[in-house]
Amino acid sequence: MTTAAEATSYEAHFRVWRGDTDGGALEDFTVEVHEGEVVLDVIHRLQATQAPDLAVRWNCKAGKCGSCSAEVNGRPRLLCMTRMSVFDHAEIVTVTPLRAFPVVRDLVTDVGFNYEKAREVPAFVPPQDLGPGEYRMQQEDVGRSQEFRKCIECFLCQDTCHVVRDHEENKPAFAGPRFLMRVAELDMHPLDAADEDGLDRKRTAQEEHGLGYCNITKCCTEVCPEGIKITDNALIPLKERAADRKYDPLVWLGNKIRRRSS
Ligand code: SF4
Ligand code: SF4
Ligand code: FES
Repeated sequence: MTTAAEATSYEAHFRVWRGDTDGGALEDFTVEVHEGEVVLDVIHRLQATQAPDLAVRWNCKAGKCGSCSAEVNGRPRLLCMTRMSVFDHAEIVTVTPLRAFPVVRDLVTDVGFNYEKAREVPAFVPPQDLGPGEYRMQQEDVGRSQEFRKCIECFLCQDTCHVVRDHEENKPAFAGPRFLMRVAELDMHPLDAADEDGLDRKRTAQEEHGLGYCNITKCCTEVCPEGIKITDNALIPLKERAADRKYDPLVWLGNKIRRRSS
C-alpha cells in the first residue's frame, strides 16, 4: 500500500555544477523530492545521500541571510526560497554557482567584490547642528530608506546586472545596483550632511561608482528577493538628481555659491 508521504514524493533530475578554481562540469543526479520542499532541501539530500563533499553556502533557510544565492536553470535565485513545486516533475533542474563572481568550490562563490564596493561608499554623515534624539524626518523619507534597508545582501542583483555579468573589465569602475542604491539612499537622506563635508554624492555616483554604466534595464529589480524597486526607486531618481546637478543652471549656481562660501 502507498503511504500519503510516498504519494507526494517523486524522483527529480538534478544537474549540479561541481568543480573549483581549476574548472569543473555539470554532474547529473536522480534525487528524491517530498512535497513542500525547496531546492536547498534537495541539495542537502544530495549531500546526505550521494555527494557528501558538495559545497553550498547557507545559513537561515528563511530567505533572510542572503547566503544561499546561486543560479537555478540560469536564473539568479535564493536556493532556500525556490520551491520545487515551480518545476515540472520531468524537468531537469540545473543548479550552478553565481556567474558574475569567481568560484571557490561547487556552488560557493567568492563575493568579495561586493564587500570592496561596500567599503567604497562613504558612510552617512551626521548633521553637526543636531544632537542624538534631535533627528526628525518626514514619514515619506523614512519609508524610502526602509525600502532600501530591506536588502539582505544576497547579491543576486549584482550577479544579474549585465554590466558586470559578462564584463569582468567593468568591475573596477562599477559599484553595481546594490551599492548605487546605497549611494541613492544616502543622497536622498534629508539629514545626511555629506555636502557640508565637501562630499558630493551625485558627483561620486557618476565619477566613482559608475552610475552612467546603468541603462535601467531593471534586471536587478526582477531578481531581488525582497521586492525592492531598485531601478525605479533608487537608480532612476539618482540619475535624475545627478543630471539636475550637472545641467540645471539654478542647481549649478547654488553649488558654486556653496563651494565659494565654504
Ligand atoms: S537597471 Fe542598471 S543596475 Fe540594474 S541590472 Fe540594469 S543596468 Fe544593471
Ligand atoms: S537589493 Fe535585493 S537583490 Fe540586491 S543584494 Fe539586496 S536583497 Fe539582494
Ligand atoms: S539560507 Fe539564508 S537566505 Fe537562503
